[in-house]
Amino acid sequence: MSTETHDRLLIIDFGSQVTQLIARRLRELNVFCEIHPYQNVSDAFLRDFAPKAVIFSGGPDSVVREGSPRPPAAVFDMGVPILGICYGQQVMMQELGGKVEGGKISGGGGTAEFGRAYVTPTIEKIDLLDGWFDGDDDREQVWMSHGDHVSRLAPGFEVYGTSPNAPYAITADTNRGFYAVQFHPEVHHTPNGAKLYENFVRMAGFTGDWTMGAYREEAIRKIREQVGDKRVICGLSGGVDSSVAAVLIHEAIGDQLTCVFVDHGLLRQNEADEVVSMFRDNYNIPLIHADESELFLGELEGQSDPETKRKIIGKLFIDVFQKHANEIEGAEFLAQGTLYPDVIESVSFSGGPSVTIKSHHNVGGLPEKMGLKLVEPLRELFKDEVRALGRELGLPDSFIGRHPFPGPGLAIRCPGEITREKLDILRLADAVYIDQIRKHGLYDDIWQAFVAILPVRTVGVMGDGRTYDYACALRAVTSVDGMTADYYPFSHEFLGETATRIINEVPGINRVTYDITSKPPGTIEWE
Ligand code: XMP
Repeated sequence: MSTETHDRLLIIDFGSQVTQLIARRLRELNVFCEIHPYQNVSDAFLRDFAPKAVIFSGGPDSVVREGSPRPPAAVFDMGVPILGICYGQQVMMQELGGKVEGGKISGGGGTAEFGRAYVTPTIEKIDLLDGWFDGDDDREQVWMSHGDHVSRLAPGFEVYGTSPNAPYAITADTNRGFYAVQFHPEVHHTPNGAKLYENFVRMAGFTGDWTMGAYREEAIRKIREQVGDKRVICGLSGGVDSSVAAVLIHEAIGDQLTCVFVDHGLLRQNEADEVVSMFRDNYNIPLIHADESELFLGELEGQSDPETKRKIIGKLFIDVFQKHANEIEGAEFLAQGTLYPDVIESVSFSGGPSVTIKSHHNVGGLPEKMGLKLVEPLRELFKDEVRALGRELGLPDSFIGRHPFPGPGLAIRCPGEITREKLDILRLADAVYIDQIRKHGLYDDIWQAFVAILPVRTVGVMGDGRTYDYACALRAVTSVDGMTADYYPFSHEFLGETATRIINEVPGINRVTYDITSKPPGTIEWE
């Protein structure tokens, strides 16, 4: 079975910040969908794509502005159901003969509306609303974010839900299978929103036939087709994305793949050995283990500025990777574990450049520099789907469920100057902390947990003696995507026990603190 033979849903993107979440909701329903910017969706594209249903996303523009985004007219003649969200609703009304007005900021009867709102039902309940308005108070919380509003429905449409500021909150022409809502059902703050997508795809006839097994087979076929008999190199970090990509590609082309694992000396306890034994011994994947710790730690000596440290590591990483990759004769392709959110971000036409908080470690410039073509078999997947694919490929759960680890490694968990002594202390403290978390069965509830060794020594007393050792901070956060995070609410008992263990088992640390900063205003890592 291939994705081409699967039912396909097309999301036409009008530039909403949350379009990805629509795809997310659909994938959760095992529906294959793709997001395409409205500019790319021509009549010919529609014919080729042959969607079984279409969704119009929201967007920042105003339908009343001349030259604002439009879907191709042919989409309304395809005989497939369409769901319009926010701007998608407005553009649908405008195109089908209704009317949209620019937003008034206050007052009733169709004004701009941002944030939480409550929708109540009108005449009758349609299939799209199965599972809605079933609660005691006969209303649903939704998330609104719109300036303009529909002021006259297109012919054939009826209203099935209203909110105080959106008289046309839920509208539909059930004969044609066109549905349009003013709010965003895909976001967390529309708690029952997933149900609308479920109803929509059910009515459109989707059977939920998009599975990881099917994805794996299709991906293998595509890799073979792309690569032929050429060689591929893959930078392996030991993280989930590059590991899953490597195993998948290896399954497709066997020994034509060589992995390069750059050990910068900033890895956690036993990490290098684990990665090497897993790939070389378990999977039999040709692997170059580039132990470059002397080089990295040498260059980092005396450096204490966070950005300088990040830049040194980023540059060396590329140099070293390139050096080792050049030894692999005839390599024409570079494999990367690029995920779907990275791909979509690059086509979104949202605001201007954002402020750089941290220079992230990535190898984005490598392919051009080395004259390599890219193999990116995870481009269509979200993070949790990558994990599911990893499981499908037989990677151990302990590996797949690992917390994310940043490219610059322990360097950014050692604020200030990095020394080998501090790194050794940090590795041991981190291992004890993670062991505690695992023993208490908390590992999978936490997005990321680690120790940071602080550039400060404190006075303590152990036995009858004075100590003057490092203080450390424990960090543990919950998060969905790493963009925002909250500290994990450990019990005092857990924290006390962990502090005692670290001080007893880790020479060099005599004080333990717990970091209770959320993100924002903090970041997850300390640097
Ligand atoms: P911050 O500290 O920015 O981290 O809140 C958010 C998430 O990103 C990880 N992180 C990185 N990952 N290269 C990476 O691959 C980097 O340079 C990098 N810096 C931070 C961090 O561990 C957290 O999961």
